Amino acid sequence: MNVSVVGSGYVGTTIAACFADLGHDVRAIDVDEEVVATLNQGEAPIYEPGLEDLLEAQAGDRLQATTDYAAVRETDLTFLALPTPTDAEGRIDLSVMESGAERLGEALAAKEGEHLVVVKSTVIPGTTGEVIGPILEAGSGTDLGEDIEIAMNPEFLREGTAVPDFLNSQKIVFGTRREDQDGEASGEVGPTHEDRSDRGWALDRLHEVYEPLLASGQTPVVETGLREAEMIKYANNAFLASKVSLINELGNICKVYSVDAYEVADAIGLDDRIGAKFLRSGVGWGGSCFLKDVAALIAAARDRGYEPELLEAAAGVNDRQPERLLELLDEHVECENERIAVLGLAFKPDTDDVRNSRAIEVIEGLQTRGAQVVAYDPVATDSMREHFPDIEYVDSAASALEGASGAVVVTDWDEFEALDAEFDAMGSPVVVDGRRVIARREGLVYEGLTW
Ligand code: UGA
Repeated sequence: MNVSVVGSGYVGTTIAACFADLGHDVRAIDVDEEVVATLNQGEAPIYEPGLEDLLEAQAGDRLQATTDYAAVRETDLTFLALPTPTDAEGRIDLSVMESGAERLGEALAAKEGEHLVVVKSTVIPGTTGEVIGPILEAGSGTDLGEDIEIAMNPEFLREGTAVPDFLNSQKIVFGTRREDQDGEASGEVGPTHEDRSDRGWALDRLHEVYEPLLASGQTPVVETGLREAEMIKYANNAFLASKVSLINELGNICKVYSVDAYEVADAIGLDDRIGAKFLRSGVGWGGSCFLKDVAALIAAARDRGYEPELLEAAAGVNDRQPERLLELLDEHVECENERIAVLGLAFKPDTDDVRNSRAIEVIEGLQTRGAQVVAYDPVATDSMREHFPDIEYVDSAASALEGASGAVVVTDWDEFEALDAEFDAMGSPVVVDGRRVIARREGLVYEGLTW
């Protein structure tokens, strides 16, 4: 198939490279000329294991990047993978999506034949049908259900494992218009029982583009409405984020009772109603999605008069974990004017992404205490320099520890597990571990955040 992907961020670049790898001809469209040039050279604009190999193999061949929206006319369907950040009040900010949809609609005005627009970005229920749909209709001069149709296909890939996550999806969700909601609620007339063929070709096209992943019959496909598909993505992320906050809350209680939260988690995880994954307690969740999506869902619920207390509590527990880590450090080190090592800056291992990384709160807390912060991360140093240009960055954990009065572990990079003799360079070593990666041993004052 001929596929276009609007937006070359984490999701857009990954799916563009993967769809090309699966055999489709892909046009990646982005307004940023530098990103487009990078892609056309077969390089990844972001750090993501496995992505560069795919781009190197496909760029100039099955994958071509451009800044020109007219490229969509050569394709059968377009994935909209533009950012949906939150505004100052935590509400979803659709401005980038809206302007992308406008340009897409205008480009489609001159297209012959059917075209499917698939929203990939995470959006509040109702957005695809009631915001994006009408913009496409206005831009293209075509009513939905005629030559243009919309669908919603949320993405569940994780940074750091984005390529294998996409190629081995645990589920694929196809949301298409349903007459009882997306049509009526928007004042638009959706497909009726008589002309279900409109819904038919959108779903057909989705099945076709994903066919290489579905051929084995192993991947469940969920066919649902637009709003359900939009909500499934929020529910997925809100559930996972809340699961971590719940184990963090239990972990905080464990700590004050000298109980090891990891032993507790291992045991409760054996109950298949709970499950063993996402039970690693510590300094909390960061990244581009959990905070933004939980905040947007809270704001969206309040907008409709529902107060989502549990989600607010999950966000609150997460906000407080960095300070809890520093309070444990305070028990052993008077931080003012002391050198304190921060090990790990990325929001999780195998990424250079520091968006909403707990390291930001930890560094701010250390600065409030008057500490001299020395930071180390295997790949995320440059990204963190934009937040904190004035702290010291070093190129190894050993250099960070040298002469430090205390150390905190914020990211669970594998290489930190091997640290041992390096702590002796601290003089009297004190480590507060926010991710359970350092081995407790004699001669090391060691505090685990929840153990
Ligand atoms: C998350 C979801 O897992 C993906 O399914 C989703 O597609 C993505 O958001 C998105 O919406 O784009 P991601 O943010 O890449 O993916 O990272 P995760 O691996 O989910 O980790 C999120 C945070 O939770 C990290 O800071 C991690 O350290 C933390 N975490 C995770 C814990 O503290 N404990 C755990 O047990 C698991």
